[in-house]
Amino acid sequence: MEIISAKKVSKIYSNGQGLKSVDFTISKGEFVGIVGESGAGKTTLMRLLCGAIFPTDGELIIYDTDMTNIRRARLTNLRRKISVVYQNYNVIPCLDVARNVMLGRLSEVSWLETIRRLFFLNREELGEIKSILEKLNIADKLNERCQELSGGQQQRVAIARALYSKADLFIADEPIASVDPATANLIINAFKDLKYQGKTIIMNLHQLDHAIKHCDRILMFEQGEICFDGKPTEFAQSSAYSRLDDKDLQMGVTNE
Ligand SMILES: Nc1ncnc2c1ncn2[C@@H]1O[C@H](COP(=O)(O)OP(=O)(O)OP(=O)(O)O)[C@@H](O)[C@H]1O
Ligand SMILES: [Mg+2]
Repeated sequence: MEIISAKKVSKIYSNGQGLKSVDFTISKGEFVGIVGESGAGKTTLMRLLCGAIFPTDGELIIYDTDMTNIRRARLTNLRRKISVVYQNYNVIPCLDVARNVMLGRLSEVSWLETIRRLFFLNREELGEIKSILEKLNIADKLNERCQELSGGQQQRVAIARALYSKADLFIADEPIASVDPATANLIINAFKDLKYQGKTIIMNLHQLDHAIKHCDRILMFEQGEICFDGKPTEFAQSSAYSRLDDKDLQMGVTNE
């Protein structure tokens, strides 16, 4: 079942940069890796897919919703189905880890219920939150404020918040950017668990080896355009991969 369809979608910023006439579709249950050098347009794509920004041209349909002509109420409904891990984490520094994760269900419960959970999390809610944090090896921080955590730990809290949501589509912008290789594997495996539950994952990755090993499909962007769309095994042998890998080597990025 197709859940995203992009036809000649552009998002051009005032400086002339952005995404240029991209075409692709994404089906339910796919784990798609988005790769490309810095500035290629990966985050712009993520922001379009979660309705944070809108196309300047073309047709973008997400769950039967036309993103070029969307009303506010419809957007709120759509966002319930989508969970996003932002590149800059967006955790709330003064709240503890458990409450930050709890906010993953903000769109599913009433304001009153959210306020109740801010003050009091019952045993069942805490147990569920803790089991997600355990998967990401950060359960020991349950009661610590996010402002006291390292960047990599905050990133895992942001991921736990996304995993706690009941979304159908998970969009993650470089979720393993600030963590060591062992933690990167934990994070990727947590997303793979979601995929096995039938969820759809779209993940920006700078680490090409992870993209090739774990994703079902790779989309590579270059200067705002798609230059590769296909299977990881084909990607590993493509000229697009060689170009990106060479640039990474020049920049000192290792595929660890
Ligand atoms: N809000 C904005 N206003 C103007 N230009 C922008 C804006 N956001 C992004 N751009 C430009 O659009 C291009 C794509 O940016 P984007 O953030 O999508 O890249 P990216 O592939 O996510 O890069 P990175 O790997 O560094 O995160 C860049 O040239 C960037 O300067
Ligand atoms: Mg980015």
